Amino acid sequence: GDLERLADDVRRADTVVAFTGAGISAPSGVPTFRGDDGVWERFDERQFAYGRFQRDPEGFWEDRVELQRTMFDGDFEPNTAHEALAAMGRDGDLEAILTQNTDGLHGEAAAVGGETNDAEPNTARDTDPTVLELHGNSQRVRCTDCGNRRDGDPIFERAADGDLPPTCDCGGVFKPDVVLFGEQLPGAVIQRARSLARESDVFLAIGSSLVVEPAASLPRLAASTGATVGILNLESTPVDGIADIVSREDVTDSLPRLRDLVLE
Ligand code: OAD
Repeated sequence: GDLERLADDVRRADTVVAFTGAGISAPSGVPTFRGDDGVWERFDERQFAYGRFQRDPEGFWEDRVELQRTMFDGDFEPNTAHEALAAMGRDGDLEAILTQNTDGLHGEAAAVGGETNDAEPNTARDTDPTVLELHGNSQRVRCTDCGNRRDGDPIFERAADGDLPPTCDCGGVFKPDVVLFGEQLPGAVIQRARSLARESDVFLAIGSSLVVEPAASLPRLAASTGATVGILNLESTPVDGIADIVSREDVTDSLPRLRDLVLE
């Protein structure tokens, strides 16, 4: 089948790059953005635009507390799809994970460790795939004056208790450490993502609707330099036409199976 073909290509490839979106975290209970239960059905994207943050940091933070509750309610943990990617990294079959997600779950899955391929003992952290968080991390905040990063939880609690907008010891206003609408992705990050896409022999787009930039263009860039492009997503995407392999399965089914097939 298709996954077998993809596994063959992964096995033969020098450089395999995974690119992930909200769909990989949906089985962990983190809602996606688009679709019926999507976050953008309940909130207006414009509430979280960079311009709003600058004009009205108090209102922005008030809404952001709500968004944070909706997205990251209670405990959420890496699922078998995150773990399969982390394991492929340790197996030596995955170079990098580029993610649009801000939930930090790829990093957690890598840190958890877990099982290793017997043939290739875990040589610890140097074999972990690089995780590049293109849209930042929602579990952190950053001071807009001094640039210090802090764990987000206590700051979100302060904001929820009416400390609006929450400020740093230096007096600067904290901002969630994420890329907001209307804000540019850091140039170095986008360069790195593009060069990984170009270098890749296999590019896997996983759990993303592939409608916003750079999501829409990275798979095309990979394809244009000869990579095998696999799209693993429940729904069709505008980029399916250039993909070599499309899987419409739940990623908690397809990714653990892909890893097993690569090891066979
Ligand atoms: P979307 O919500 O746009 O798309 C998630 C995709 O995952 C959908 O196409 C679903 O079909 C698919 N999906 C859901 N559950 C799945 C599962 N278990 N297995 C396989 N596929 C599944 O999320 P993104 O593409 O990540 O930006 O959205 C991209 C960006 O748009 C986000 O990073 C965010 C948003 O606005 C910012 O916040 C800057």
